[in-house]
Amino acid sequence: MQIVTARLQLDGLQREDAAALFAYRADPQVARWQGWRPASAADAERFIELQRGVALDTAGTWWQRAIRLRDSGALIGDLGLHFVDEATVELGISVAPAHQRRGYAREALEVMLDFVFGGLHKHRVTASLDPRNAACARLLESLGMRREGHFRESVRSGEGWVDDLVLAILEREWLAAPAAEEG
Ligand SMILES: CC(C)(COP(=O)(O)OP(=O)(O)OC[C@H]1O[C@@H](n2cnc3c(N)ncnc32)[C@H](O)[C@@H]1OP(=O)(O)O)[C@@H](O)C(=O)NCCC(=O)NCCS
Repeated sequence: MQIVTARLQLDGLQREDAAALFAYRADPQVARWQGWRPASAADAERFIELQRGVALDTAGTWWQRAIRLRDSGALIGDLGLHFVDEATVELGISVAPAHQRRGYAREALEVMLDFVFGGLHKHRVTASLDPRNAACARLLESLGMRREGHFRESVRSGEGWVDDLVLAILEREWLAAPAAEEG
């Protein structure tokens, strides 16, 4: 399945993406805030292989999408949908540092929220992040997601126990929000 926006193409990760995926996912600027950190390109390849068997909208699974530049096809990030149950989806996203602050994460999440709510008719989308991750918190709030919970030292990370900030948005809130400005 492929989704395109003005500048991006979201589709399945391919074996040949392993080196690029490893390069940015192992970058400390990205890995610090993510649960999965590949130790090698082979690790990234295994991750991609595992994704092959994941069908869209399967409860209990993460369904990962590649974020590519539409003009070159270059992999610049990835986005995950965790189908928590039949009504709730959790989001995750990473953009390679070299491509950050150009509006790509927002562009990818806007079209994915349209798909999750308008296409799959999910009831609620959540995100869980380290409250020190100001970039992601601002990104999600700029999309209309609301801070719903701050859990003290509830997540074990490479740094030990860290806090967890949960944001969320409902289908009716997203569908009622004014459509994003075209690129
Ligand atoms: C968070 C992340 C995905 C943002 O990606 P991005 O493509 O740079 O984000 P965008 O350019 O679309 O930014 C959209 C908005 O998010 C906020 N934002 C993004 N990066 C920010 C930063 N470094 N500092 C403050 N706000 C930031 C701003 O509100 C920005 O809007 P603006 O540029 O108009 O001010 C990226 O920094 C990343 O991959 N970080 C590492 C992994 C991670 O933290 N993932 C999220 C865990 S849930």
